[in-house]
Amino acid sequence: MSLTNPQNRQSQSQPRNDQTHLITLKCKSLILSLWAPSLLILILSLSLAKFTPILHYLKPNLLWSPGRAQPSSAHLRPPCVLWMAPFLSPGGYSSEAWSYITSLSSFTKTHNFSLKILPHGDSNSFEFFNGLPEKSKNLAYELYNADCELSESIVVCHSEPGAWFPPLFQTLPCPPTGYQEPLFVVGRTMFETDRINPNHVERCNRMDKIWVPSEFHVSMFVDNGVDESKVAKLVQPVDVEFFDPSKYQAFALESIKPVVGSRCGDNKDFVFLSVFKWEQRKGWDVLLKAFLSEFSRSDCVSLYLLVSAYHSDTKFGAKISNFVKQTGLVPPADGWAGVHVINVHVAQSDLPRLYKAADAFVLPTRGEGWGRPIVEAMAMALPVIATNWSGPTEYLTEENGYPLPIDEMSEVSDGPFVGHKWAEPSSERLRVLMRRVVSDREEGRRRGRRAREDMMKRFSPEVVGRILADEILGIVRMLG
Ligand SMILES: *[C@@H]1O[C@H](CO)[C@@H](O)[C@H](O)[C@H]1NC(C)=O
Ligand SMILES: *[C@@H]1O[C@H](CO)[C@@H](O)[C@H](O)[C@H]1NC(C)=O
Repeated sequence: MSLTNPQNRQSQSQPRNDQTHLITLKCKSLILSLWAPSLLILILSLSLAKFTPILHYLKPNLLWSPGRAQPSSAHLRPPCVLWMAPFLSPGGYSSEAWSYITSLSSFTKTHNFSLKILPHGDSNSFEFFNGLPEKSKNLAYELYNADCELSESIVVCHSEPGAWFPPLFQTLPCPPTGYQEPLFVVGRTMFETDRINPNHVERCNRMDKIWVPSEFHVSMFVDNGVDESKVAKLVQPVDVEFFDPSKYQAFALESIKPVVGSRCGDNKDFVFLSVFKWEQRKGWDVLLKAFLSEFSRSDCVSLYLLVSAYHSDTKFGAKISNFVKQTGLVPPADGWAGVHVINVHVAQSDLPRLYKAADAFVLPTRGEGWGRPIVEAMAMALPVIATNWSGPTEYLTEENGYPLPIDEMSEVSDGPFVGHKWAEPSSERLRVLMRRVVSDREEGRRRGRRAREDMMKRFSPEVVGRILADEILGIVRMLG
């Protein structure tokens, strides 16, 4: 692999730098006088732009700091943590990154470092950014505008390794100019199968440190050849203040028509909720089969699905009724229990109300990096049924939920991880557990309460923020 020497690149672009400084200065004063939404458009257009113009923009923003007289005075300034992640797109990495920077930002003063963010690693969605809580948006503007000198930075590349320098697809690279310039480079990543590709192993070993979310990942990464001394567990926070059941009214589900079956008369149905992207990995096939086999209309149990597209169209209702026809399930005499697809846009800020409308959460996934909707549901004190494999093994127990046993490991047949293996959750056990949650509601409530307690104790932003800030302090001290 040939890495361009950053020194060379810098001197090559030197003649244009003064000009760029001026442009940036103008931009900055312009930004101050504009509304926040315009800034977002600027962020979007910058990160959507091609690699070269971005580098020209980044140079002044990252490397040039006003009022720095001597290079030696740099030692007195706090080191910077540059966190690069898909902040502007929906998905696991993004929400994880938001929770990290939110919890980390409250430790910058006590732990003596500054924090800057840059979007990287995925496409950007205006709708997603708009749906974020106001607090997050304000934090984004502040951290995006922070000054940060790359040569004094600990860079965190929080994304899939294919996005790391040199990226395998078009995105702002992380680190922006390769591995030599920053003080220290951390890769924060996770995987959902039983192994990682040799190319990703190589990319991990190029980093100074690799953070993964669970013990499952630590052993999997090391078993696959990532340098053991580099791999550390860093769990993921869940915003237990935001996902707090005492703060919300339930989302109104009544207007959502079933795509299969029907509601049970006037009685309020027991509501199972599932939240996932439409991909094989999420085990929606296992869920539908188990749900429709176990329950019928007179059970007064409904399944609500919040589904997002993953390389597919959004006609999930049609996909589900086709699936039901194809599987050859025999309709019960009293009719199917209701399966509903939540086909309205639910903004991030409305998510807690959706969990609040449910009696239980279920996700028979085949593999998770962490399982964000699972911990959100747990923070909302719901009884949770989720597969006892990969990420969830870090937090899901028989005291705080319903770990779903697996039948076997199965081969991934589609997508970028063909040939890897993941877990086949037991459809039989899923039926038993769903029935149990419906029948023994007191046990479900007890486990749900325990789930919220565990989330607050082990994964609150304060707790995880402190672990992360201490980790960063450790790196700063090690660097001397
Ligand atoms: C941060 O800096 C202040 C002032 O230099 C110092 O008193 C304090 O101990 C530092 N905190 C840590 C965690 O190093
Ligand atoms: C979940 O898996 C772990 C091993 O990863 C095992 O020790 C535990 O007994 C399992 N729990 C259940 C309920 O199957």
